[in-house]
Amino acid sequence: MKQTLVLKVNSQKPDIEKVRVAAKIIREGGLVAFPTETVYGLGADALNPNAVVALFEAKKRPLDNPPIVHVDNVNDVYKLAKKVPPKAERLMKKFWPGPLTLVFNRSETVPEVTVAGLDTIAIRMPQHKVALALIRESNRPIAAPSANLAGKPSPTSAKHVFEDLNGRIDAILDGGSTRIGVESTVLDLSVDPPQVLRPGGTPVEALRKVLGDVTLHPFVASDEELPIEKARSPGMKHKHYAPNADVIIVEGAISAVTVKVKELIEAYRLKGVKVGVLATDETRRAYEADVVKSLGSRFNLAAIAQNLFRELREFDAEGVDVIIAEDVPSEGLGLAVMNRLRKASGYNIVKAE
Ligand code: TXA
Ligand code: MG
Repeated sequence: MKQTLVLKVNSQKPDIEKVRVAAKIIREGGLVAFPTETVYGLGADALNPNAVVALFEAKKRPLDNPPIVHVDNVNDVYKLAKKVPPKAERLMKKFWPGPLTLVFNRSETVPEVTVAGLDTIAIRMPQHKVALALIRESNRPIAAPSANLAGKPSPTSAKHVFEDLNGRIDAILDGGSTRIGVESTVLDLSVDPPQVLRPGGTPVEALRKVLGDVTLHPFVASDEELPIEKARSPGMKHKHYAPNADVIIVEGAISAVTVKVKELIEAYRLKGVKVGVLATDETRRAYEADVVKSLGSRFNLAAIAQNLFRELREFDAEGVDVIIAEDVPSEGLGLAVMNRLRKASGYNIVKAE
């Protein structure tokens, strides 16, 4: 494919002419990356099987892992889903548009490839003005996984999309950096009580306030690799979020973590490898490594979520061989951050005590 077209758009007031160029590409079966409030998505017409196949190919994504279908109105949910339970209606009212994906039993009109042959479909209404304008102007639901090469950290800026997918997709709508920085929360409503399959931008605590009981799938907060037969979401089976460097997570009380990280820095230095540390504002000055980055304050988990994927990519750009990362509290957005970090490490977790 030729060089990818980059269209800069104002994230607050998207230039309609540019959005229409992108929407035309979608309607003609092409691929367009666009910003959402979570991460950049790579969009294709969800109802065009050829376009969706091209989407999987561009990302090098296995065909058994379906994308999320993005809508700009609730009526489309009733067309794509077989049944919309009352709990879903409450959630859509409260959290849409926003970083919450709901899994429904699907209607037969959805192409098989869009749902990877499953009898369920994952749907969300994004909050970003550019995303909503693109869906509206395309006049169809848009299938959009995160716009990274499979296995890489999700893109939080158009630059990240370009690094991974230039020449593999038709266009990128560049609306600047994304606000939330981790993907949407995926909630399965086909079981009772509802179950979180992927923690994300909508905290579990907020879902519980509306629904009462909500369970976490064992994969969500596991600190070890579980057998893949247990996966309920196809995405759980695949390697994810991994930078080129090896990642080690150090978990425990922060004072013990700091001591352990220092020990690991020394051990790796003796081996002569380039060491990166992923720290927080409160601890960064304690470390002497080749590259030390802070995710933000330990008391601001939203900032930490926003910075996570960008910093993992920056470590690669600096050519570090190993990244030693502190843990953060698994509450609010911290649950999503720890889930991504643990996956990025391949569950290479050291307990500090
Ligand atoms: O924030 C987000 O969700 C971003 C933006 C672009 O909207 N999208 C995103 O898509 O992260 P993706 O494809 O990278 O992740 C979708 C997740 C995967 O873990 C996939 O396995 C799961 O949703 N999923 C999709 N369809 C499903 C289904 N029918 N049942 C269970 N899980 C499903
Ligand atoms: Mg993804």
